[in-house]
Amino acid sequence: MFDPAEDARQIDEAVAAIRAQTDLVPDLALVLGSGLGALADEVEDAVIIPTGEVPHYPASTVEGHAGRLVLGTLEGRPVLVVQGRVHLYEGHEPRAVTFPVRLAHALGAKGLFLTNAAGGMNPSFVPGTLMLITDHINLAFTSALSGKMASGEHRFPDMSNPYDAEWRKQAGNIALTHGVPYREGVYVWTAGPSYETPAEIRFFQRAGADAVGMSTVPEAIQAAALGMPVLGLSTITNLAAGLQGRPLNHAEVMEVGQMVRERLSTWVRAIVAETGPG
Ligand code: 6GU
Repeated sequence: MFDPAEDARQIDEAVAAIRAQTDLVPDLALVLGSGLGALADEVEDAVIIPTGEVPHYPASTVEGHAGRLVLGTLEGRPVLVVQGRVHLYEGHEPRAVTFPVRLAHALGAKGLFLTNAAGGMNPSFVPGTLMLITDHINLAFTSALSGKMASGEHRFPDMSNPYDAEWRKQAGNIALTHGVPYREGVYVWTAGPSYETPAEIRFFQRAGADAVGMSTVPEAIQAAALGMPVLGLSTITNLAAGLQGRPLNHAEVMEVGQMVRERLSTWVRAIVAETGPG
Protein backbone atom coordinates (compact mmCIF):
# COMPACT_ATOMS: atom_id res chain seq x y z
CA MET A 1 0.00 0.00 0.00
CA PHE A 2 1.28 3.43 -0.95
CA ASP A 3 2.01 5.54 2.09
CA PRO A 4 2.36 9.26 1.25
CA ALA A 5 4.35 10.08 4.40
CA GLU A 6 6.77 7.25 3.70
CA ASP A 7 7.05 8.32 0.04
CA ALA A 8 7.81 11.91 1.09
CA ARG A 9 10.49 10.64 3.47
CA GLN A 10 12.03 8.48 0.75
CA ILE A 11 12.05 11.32 -1.77
CA ASP A 12 13.63 13.63 0.85
CA GLU A 13 16.38 11.09 1.48
CA ALA A 14 17.00 10.64 -2.24
CA VAL A 15 17.14 14.44 -2.72
CA ALA A 16 19.55 14.76 0.23
CA ALA A 17 21.87 12.10 -1.24
CA ILE A 18 21.93 13.96 -4.55
CA ARG A 19 22.36 17.36 -2.88
CA ALA A 20 25.38 15.95 -1.05
CA GLN A 21 27.04 15.67 -4.46
CA THR A 22 25.74 18.73 -6.30
CA ASP A 23 23.63 21.80 -5.61
CA LEU A 24 22.58 22.06 -9.25
CA VAL A 25 18.84 22.75 -9.55
CA PRO A 26 17.62 21.30 -12.85
CA ASP A 27 15.16 23.28 -14.94
CA LEU A 28 14.33 20.20 -16.90
CA ALA A 29 14.45 16.47 -16.43
CA LEU A 30 15.29 14.46 -19.53
CA VAL A 31 14.45 10.77 -19.39
CA LEU A 32 16.36 8.66 -21.90
CA GLY A 33 14.89 5.62 -23.61
CA SER A 34 16.52 2.35 -24.65
CA GLY A 35 19.53 2.87 -26.88
CA LEU A 36 19.40 6.64 -26.39
CA GLY A 37 21.79 6.76 -23.45
CA ALA A 38 24.55 8.47 -25.44
CA LEU A 39 22.88 11.81 -24.77
CA ALA A 40 23.85 11.49 -21.13
CA ASP A 41 27.51 11.66 -22.18
CA GLU A 42 26.93 15.10 -23.70
CA VAL A 43 26.10 16.72 -20.37
CA GLU A 44 28.77 19.22 -19.28
CA ASP A 45 30.18 19.55 -15.78
CA ALA A 46 28.36 16.31 -15.15
CA VAL A 47 27.86 14.85 -11.74
CA ILE A 48 27.09 11.19 -12.38
CA ILE A 49 25.26 9.28 -9.70
CA PRO A 50 24.56 5.56 -10.16
CA THR A 51 20.92 5.02 -9.27
CA GLY A 52 22.07 2.23 -6.94
CA GLU A 53 23.58 4.96 -4.75
CA VAL A 54 20.34 6.94 -4.55
CA PRO A 55 18.33 5.79 -1.53
CA HIS A 56 15.00 4.17 -2.45
CA TYR A 57 15.61 4.41 -6.22
CA PRO A 58 14.05 1.25 -7.71
CA ALA A 59 16.60 -1.22 -9.07
CA SER A 60 17.00 -1.11 -12.86
CA THR A 61 17.50 -4.53 -14.39
CA VAL A 62 17.11 -4.23 -18.14
CA GLU A 63 19.98 -4.41 -20.60
CA GLY A 64 20.63 -1.08 -22.27
CA HIS A 65 19.39 0.89 -19.28
CA ALA A 66 22.49 1.84 -17.34
CA GLY A 67 21.05 3.11 -14.11
CA ARG A 68 22.46 6.56 -13.50
CA LEU A 69 21.39 10.13 -12.92
CA VAL A 70 23.43 12.81 -14.59
CA LEU A 71 23.18 16.38 -13.31
CA GLY A 72 24.90 19.14 -15.22
CA THR A 73 24.30 21.49 -18.09
CA LEU A 74 23.22 20.83 -21.64
CA GLU A 75 23.44 23.86 -23.93
CA GLY A 76 24.09 25.90 -20.80
CA ARG A 77 20.85 24.84 -19.16
CA PRO A 78 20.78 22.96 -15.85
CA VAL A 79 19.36 19.50 -16.46
CA LEU A 80 18.79 16.20 -14.75
CA VAL A 81 19.25 13.32 -17.17
CA VAL A 82 17.60 10.13 -16.03
CA GLN A 83 19.33 7.19 -17.61
CA GLY A 84 17.78 4.39 -15.68
CA ARG A 85 14.13 4.35 -16.28
CA VAL A 86 12.00 2.00 -14.24
CA HIS A 87 9.51 -0.22 -16.08
CA LEU A 88 6.43 -2.10 -15.00
CA TYR A 89 7.72 -5.27 -16.67
CA GLU A 90 10.67 -5.37 -14.28
CA GLY A 91 8.15 -6.20 -11.60
CA HIS A 92 7.94 -2.76 -10.04
CA GLU A 93 4.75 -1.30 -8.65
CA PRO A 94 3.33 1.58 -10.73
CA ARG A 95 4.34 3.98 -7.93
CA ALA A 96 7.94 2.80 -8.19
CA VAL A 97 7.89 3.32 -11.95
CA THR A 98 7.21 7.01 -11.40
CA PHE A 99 9.67 7.49 -8.52
CA PRO A 100 12.16 9.24 -10.84
CA VAL A 101 9.49 11.77 -11.82
CA ARG A 102 8.63 12.60 -8.21
CA LEU A 103 12.36 12.86 -7.54
CA ALA A 104 12.91 15.20 -10.53
CA HIS A 105 10.03 17.36 -9.33
CA ALA A 106 11.44 17.48 -5.80
CA LEU A 107 14.85 18.49 -7.20
CA GLY A 108 13.18 21.48 -8.84
CA ALA A 109 12.61 20.36 -12.44
CA LYS A 110 9.85 22.45 -14.05
CA GLY A 111 9.37 20.30 -17.13
CA LEU A 112 9.71 16.67 -18.07
CA PHE A 113 11.13 15.63 -21.42
CA LEU A 114 10.46 11.94 -22.02
CA THR A 115 12.15 9.94 -24.77
CA ASN A 116 11.61 6.32 -25.67
CA ALA A 117 12.18 3.58 -28.21
CA ALA A 118 8.90 2.46 -29.72
CA GLY A 119 7.45 0.13 -32.31
CA GLY A 120 5.88 1.79 -35.33
CA MET A 121 2.29 1.03 -36.29
CA ASN A 122 1.61 3.91 -38.64
CA PRO A 123 2.21 2.27 -42.04
CA SER A 124 4.18 5.28 -43.24
CA PHE A 125 6.75 5.02 -40.43
CA VAL A 126 10.13 3.37 -41.03
CA PRO A 127 12.76 2.42 -38.43
CA GLY A 128 14.61 5.58 -37.48
CA THR A 129 11.53 7.83 -37.66
CA LEU A 130 11.41 10.39 -34.85
CA MET A 131 7.87 10.95 -33.56
CA LEU A 132 6.70 13.78 -31.36
CA ILE A 133 4.06 12.30 -29.09
CA THR A 134 0.79 14.21 -29.41
CA ASP A 135 -1.28 12.00 -27.11
CA HIS A 136 -1.34 8.56 -25.56
CA ILE A 137 -3.55 5.57 -24.84
CA ASN A 138 -3.03 3.70 -21.58
CA LEU A 139 -3.43 -0.01 -22.39
CA ALA A 140 -1.46 -1.21 -19.37
CA PHE A 141 -4.68 -0.70 -17.43
CA THR A 142 -2.96 0.54 -14.33
CA SER A 143 -2.11 3.91 -12.86
CA ALA A 144 0.64 5.09 -10.57
CA LEU A 145 -1.95 7.34 -8.99
CA SER A 146 -4.19 4.61 -7.56
CA GLY A 147 -4.49 4.83 -3.82
CA LYS A 148 -3.50 7.71 -1.62
CA MET A 149 -2.12 10.87 -3.18
CA ALA A 150 1.55 11.73 -2.96
CA SER A 151 2.50 15.17 -1.75
CA GLY A 152 1.54 17.94 -4.21
CA GLU A 153 -0.65 15.79 -6.44
CA HIS A 154 -4.03 16.50 -7.95
CA ARG A 155 -6.59 13.76 -7.19
CA PHE A 156 -8.09 13.82 -10.71
CA PRO A 157 -5.44 15.17 -13.06
CA ASP A 158 -6.70 16.70 -16.28
CA MET A 159 -5.34 14.74 -19.26
CA SER A 160 -6.58 16.95 -22.09
CA ASN A 161 -3.06 18.24 -22.84
CA PRO A 162 -0.78 15.40 -21.67
CA TYR A 163 2.06 16.41 -24.03
CA ASP A 164 2.14 20.17 -23.75
CA ALA A 165 0.80 21.63 -27.02
CA GLU A 166 2.87 24.82 -26.81
CA TRP A 167 6.10 23.01 -26.00
CA ARG A 168 5.39 20.53 -28.80
CA LYS A 169 4.83 23.33 -31.30
CA GLN A 170 8.17 24.85 -30.32
CA ALA A 171 9.87 21.47 -30.67
CA GLY A 172 8.35 21.02 -34.13
CA ASN A 173 9.55 24.45 -35.25
CA ILE A 174 13.02 23.66 -33.99
CA ALA A 175 13.10 20.41 -35.96
CA LEU A 176 12.22 22.37 -39.10
CA THR A 177 14.91 25.01 -38.54
CA HIS A 178 17.54 22.36 -37.81
CA GLY A 179 16.51 20.16 -40.74
CA VAL A 180 15.50 17.23 -38.56
CA PRO A 181 12.66 15.25 -40.18
CA TYR A 182 9.97 14.18 -37.76
CA ARG A 183 6.40 12.93 -37.51
CA GLU A 184 3.70 13.29 -34.90
CA GLY A 185 1.58 10.55 -33.41
CA VAL A 186 -0.25 8.79 -30.65
CA TYR A 187 1.68 6.42 -28.35
CA VAL A 188 0.15 3.32 -26.77
CA TRP A 189 1.49 2.03 -23.47
CA THR A 190 1.49 -1.73 -22.93
CA ALA A 191 2.71 -3.42 -19.75
CA GLY A 192 5.10 -5.72 -21.65
CA PRO A 193 7.50 -7.44 -21.52
CA SER A 194 6.20 -9.50 -24.44
CA TYR A 195 5.82 -7.55 -27.63
CA GLU A 196 2.35 -7.45 -29.14
CA THR A 197 0.65 -9.95 -31.39
CA PRO A 198 -0.31 -8.96 -34.94
CA ALA A 199 -3.98 -8.90 -33.86
CA GLU A 200 -3.20 -6.53 -31.00
CA ILE A 201 -1.33 -4.27 -33.39
CA ARG A 202 -4.31 -4.18 -35.80
CA PHE A 203 -6.51 -3.32 -32.81
CA PHE A 204 -4.22 -0.45 -31.74
CA GLN A 205 -4.01 0.87 -35.30
CA ARG A 206 -7.79 0.97 -35.51
CA ALA A 207 -7.84 2.81 -32.20
CA GLY A 208 -5.81 5.59 -33.82
CA ALA A 209 -2.38 4.77 -32.45
CA ASP A 210 0.89 5.29 -34.31
CA ALA A 211 3.52 3.81 -31.98
CA VAL A 212 3.66 1.33 -29.12
CA GLY A 213 5.99 0.95 -26.18
CA MET A 214 6.43 0.00 -22.56
CA SER A 215 7.18 3.33 -20.90
CA THR A 216 6.44 7.08 -20.94
CA VAL A 217 2.72 6.99 -20.17
CA PRO A 218 3.07 6.36 -16.41
CA GLU A 219 5.63 9.15 -16.20
CA ALA A 220 3.39 11.53 -18.18
CA ILE A 221 0.48 10.74 -15.87
CA GLN A 222 2.66 11.29 -12.79
CA ALA A 223 3.83 14.62 -14.22
CA ALA A 224 0.23 15.67 -14.90
CA ALA A 225 -0.65 14.94 -11.28
CA LEU A 226 2.22 17.20 -10.20
CA GLY A 227 1.38 19.93 -12.72
CA MET A 228 4.60 19.47 -14.71
CA PRO A 229 4.43 20.01 -18.48
CA VAL A 230 5.65 17.07 -20.57
CA LEU A 231 7.27 16.73 -23.95
CA GLY A 232 7.43 13.23 -25.42
CA LEU A 233 9.61 11.97 -28.24
CA SER A 234 9.65 8.42 -29.63
CA THR A 235 12.33 6.89 -31.78
CA ILE A 236 10.68 4.28 -33.98
CA THR A 237 13.21 1.48 -33.72
CA ASN A 238 11.24 -1.20 -35.56
CA LEU A 239 7.84 -1.83 -37.01
CA ALA A 240 5.40 -3.58 -34.70
CA ALA A 241 4.35 -7.22 -35.04
CA GLY A 242 2.95 -8.25 -38.39
CA LEU A 243 4.33 -5.17 -40.15
CA GLN A 244 7.97 -6.02 -40.70
CA GLY A 245 7.74 -9.66 -41.70
CA ARG A 246 10.20 -11.01 -39.13
CA PRO A 247 10.40 -11.43 -35.36
CA LEU A 248 11.17 -8.48 -33.10
CA ASN A 249 14.22 -8.38 -30.89
CA HIS A 250 15.67 -6.03 -28.31
CA ALA A 251 19.08 -5.93 -30.07
CA GLU A 252 17.57 -4.20 -33.09
CA VAL A 253 15.89 -1.68 -30.81
CA MET A 254 19.33 -0.79 -29.48
CA GLU A 255 20.91 -0.64 -32.98
CA VAL A 256 18.44 1.87 -34.35
CA GLY A 257 19.09 3.99 -31.27
CA GLN A 258 22.68 4.21 -32.52
CA MET A 259 21.54 5.02 -36.06
CA VAL A 260 19.44 8.04 -35.05
CA ARG A 261 21.92 9.22 -32.46
CA GLU A 262 23.09 12.32 -34.27
CA ARG A 263 19.68 13.56 -35.44
CA LEU A 264 18.21 12.95 -32.05
CA SER A 265 21.06 14.71 -30.29
CA THR A 266 20.76 17.76 -32.55
CA TRP A 267 17.05 17.99 -31.93
CA VAL A 268 17.10 17.29 -28.20
CA ARG A 269 19.92 19.78 -27.60
CA ALA A 270 18.10 22.50 -29.52
CA ILE A 271 14.87 21.77 -27.65
CA VAL A 272 16.73 22.02 -24.33
CA ALA A 273 18.47 25.20 -25.45
CA GLU A 274 15.48 27.03 -26.83
CA THR A 275 12.25 25.80 -25.29
CA GLY A 276 10.36 24.60 -22.31
CA PRO A 277 9.37 25.83 -18.91
CA GLY A 278 11.78 27.26 -16.39
CL1 6GU B 1 6.87 -3.42 -31.31
N1 6GU B 1 6.23 -2.99 -28.83
C1 6GU B 1 6.45 -2.51 -27.61
N2 6GU B 1 5.51 -2.72 -26.69
N3 6GU B 1 7.55 -1.83 -27.25
C2 6GU B 1 8.48 -1.65 -28.19
C3 6GU B 1 8.33 -2.12 -29.49
C4 6GU B 1 7.15 -2.80 -29.78
N4 6GU B 1 9.42 -1.77 -30.20
C5 6GU B 1 10.22 -1.09 -29.36
N5 6GU B 1 9.66 -1.01 -28.14
